[in-house]
Amino acid sequence: MSEKLKWGMLGTGQIAGEFAHDLTESHTGELVAVASRSLKKAEDFAQKNGNVKAHGSYESLFADPEVDIVYIATPHPMHAEWAVKAAEAGKHILCEKPLAMNVAETQRILTAVRTNKVFMMEAFMYRCHPQTQKLVDCIREGLIGEVKTIRSVFGFRFDWLPEHRLLNKSLGGGGILDLGCYPISFIRLIAGAAQGKGFADPHTFHAVGHMGETGVDEYTTALMQFEGDIVGEAAIGVRLDRGVYCDIYGTEGSIHIPTPWHPAKHKGKWEFQLNRPGKATESIRGETDRSLFAHEADFIAAHIARGEASSPGPSLDDTLGNMRCLDLWKDAIGLHYKG
Ligand SMILES: NC(=O)c1ccc[n+]([C@@H]2O[C@H](COP(=O)([O-])OP(=O)(O)OC[C@H]3O[C@@H](n4cnc5c(N)ncnc54)[C@H](OP(=O)(O)O)[C@@H]3O)[C@@H](O)[C@H]2O)c1
Repeated sequence: MSEKLKWGMLGTGQIAGEFAHDLTESHTGELVAVASRSLKKAEDFAQKNGNVKAHGSYESLFADPEVDIVYIATPHPMHAEWAVKAAEAGKHILCEKPLAMNVAETQRILTAVRTNKVFMMEAFMYRCHPQTQKLVDCIREGLIGEVKTIRSVFGFRFDWLPEHRLLNKSLGGGGILDLGCYPISFIRLIAGAAQGKGFADPHTFHAVGHMGETGVDEYTTALMQFEGDIVGEAAIGVRLDRGVYCDIYGTEGSIHIPTPWHPAKHKGKWEFQLNRPGKATESIRGETDRSLFAHEADFIAAHIARGEASSPGPSLDDTLGNMRCLDLWKDAIGLHYKG
């Protein structure tokens, strides 16, 4: 790409700061503007991140002709509104995960994106990383035979700070939406790869979980089954340290991924292990020159440069399938949000 993709940021919170930092390592993109609900916050963020342009409202950033792509880094209940408005303004979109609160909101976003012919991707950064791409190749090549079980775990202990969005129901808090979207995405990715497809949707889905004083899910486990007798197990927790890893079991071996979501987060080496009967454990390794979100930005730029409306990691249909599972999961444990 001769000219860099010009990014505009919506929101000035935690992930916005991390993304802005990593974007400085991107080969294809640069931050040109940031928008906040408060001009002062936008100016402070802009000053820390290359003195880019500061907008005192999200609408003002949509009207900025210099911005090619908008990165939506607000809490999830606000994603649908701003993604639809960004699409209507003709901007490409990278929207943080989960794309929305439910399937109905997701469909509204996808309609706006398709109608306005803009690129949109849900921000599953791990899907854009070379580690995940190598893992998918291993599955497709049949290194562990036929895949039969995929276990995906993402759980940590977070103290209840009612004002923090993670456990605050009005800000979309709870583990299923915040963390559960990763294991569901991973299991569907690997079940799909095992069948030579970009993703797969389960034909059966069950879940149990616990909601406590926070009013949102604090730890929960989902079980699902796919074509080919593939079983998926997704285990998450936002008030319980359950570890962070994925294991894939096949008829001829297994793969253990110790850092599935943040491989080589700050550049450098990544690695996962291949175990096959009668053989020593083999490490599959690589090294990258860019941080996690820089990979994501470059991955997206490559798709936009080719004029593609959606990326294979994840595509619009993949994102919709993910949200269907999250709706099933919430329903199964009786978790309902207003609106
Ligand atoms: N991919 C990843 O690794 C990753 C990691 C963490 C979070 N996330 C996702 O990113 C999103 C943001 O998470 P975060 O941890 O960055 O949240 P955060 O620190 O609370 O920041 C959210 C930002 O959204 C803006 N905002 C707009 N409307 C808001 C409202 N009604 N209430 C509160 N803030 C509002 C605020 O910016 P202004 O006040 O400046 O407008 C705020 O700074 C979530 O959807 C989350 O799932 C992704």
